[in-house]
Amino acid sequence: MKEYILITGASSGIGYEMAKQLAAKQQPLLLLARSEEKLQSIQQEIKKLYKVEVDYLLFDLSEPNAAQEIYNQVKEKQYNVTGLINNAGFGDYGNFTEMSLKNDEAMIAVNITALIGLTKVFGADMIANGKGRVMNVASLVSFLPFPYYTIYSATKCFVLAFSETLAAEWEGTGVMVKALCPGTVETPFHTPAMRKTNAMYANTPMSADVVAKAGADLFLNGKGIKVVGTLNTILSFLPRITPRTIMMKIKKNLASSKT
Ligand SMILES: NC(=O)c1ccc[n+]([C@@H]2O[C@H](COP(=O)([O-])OP(=O)(O)OC[C@H]3O[C@@H](n4cnc5c(N)ncnc54)[C@H](OP(=O)(O)O)[C@@H]3O)[C@@H](O)[C@H]2O)c1
Repeated sequence: MKEYILITGASSGIGYEMAKQLAAKQQPLLLLARSEEKLQSIQQEIKKLYKVEVDYLLFDLSEPNAAQEIYNQVKEKQYNVTGLINNAGFGDYGNFTEMSLKNDEAMIAVNITALIGLTKVFGADMIANGKGRVMNVASLVSFLPFPYYTIYSATKCFVLAFSETLAAEWEGTGVMVKALCPGTVETPFHTPAMRKTNAMYANTPMSADVVAKAGADLFLNGKGIKVVGTLNTILSFLPRITPRTIMMKIKKNLASSKT
C-alpha cells in the first residue's frame, strides 16, 4: 500500500516548496489547503515534473472539528497516511487590542488546534503501526516571541513545546516528531505592515525553497528541532545568555515599524 505524506498549507510558500522537494524524492503526497485552483495547478505541475502520486483535500483548518473530518475523508478515500507535515499557519501584526479577536481565535485554531488534532488522529494510527513521522512548522519566534506578533508568537511557542514533549513521549514507538524553525522567509505570509518592521530590514528573508529543502531533509532523515540558517541558529541561543528584560527590549525594537 502506497504511503502518503499529508502536507497542510501546501498551496503556497514553504508548504508548496516542500511538496516539490518531497515529490522529487518520489514520495506520494496528499496536499491540503483552502485554495482549490492553486492546489489543482500544483497537483498538475508535480505530476508532470516528478511522475508521483499527488492528490489534494480542500479544508479550512479554522473550522471546528477540522482534524476529525480530514481524518474521516482520508479513511473514506483509503489513503495510507504515514507522514504528516503540519505546515499551515498564518500570523498577524499590530497593537494587541486593535487586532480582531475573531482573527486571533482563527489563528489559534489553525496554528494550534488543528495541528494538535491532526497529530492526534493520524498519530494514533502511526503508533498502532509502529512507524510514522510528524513534522510541525514552528518558527524562530518559538525561541524569541516578538511584541506586536503577540498571539502569533505564542502559537509558535506552543508548537515548539508541543513537538519537543511529544517527541519524548513517543520515543521508542517508531513514530518521530520533529519541528522545523525557520527565520524570516520570503512568502505571502508577510502583510504590508510586517514588511515595514526593523527586523525585515535587518535580516534578509530566506527563500522558501532553501527553507523547504531543510524541511524535507529534516522530515525524511533528521530528528528533533531544526533552526534554518546559521544566523538564526545563533539568534535562537541568545535568550539562554541574555536577561529576559534586555531580550524583550531588543525584540520590541526589531518588531517596531521602520516608518
Ligand atoms: N514566512 C515566514 O517568514 C515564516 C517564518 C517562520 C515560520 N513560518 C511558518 O511557516 C508556515 C508556512 O507559512 P508560509 O510562510 O509558507 O506562508 P504562506 O505562503 O502564506 O502559506 C500558508 C499556507 O497555509 C494555508 N492556510 C492558511 N490558513 C489556512 C486555513 N484556515 N485552512 C487551511 N489552510 C490554511 C494557506 O493555504 P490557503 O490560503 O490556500 O488555505 C497556505 O498554503 C506557517 O506555519 C508559518 O507560521 C513562516
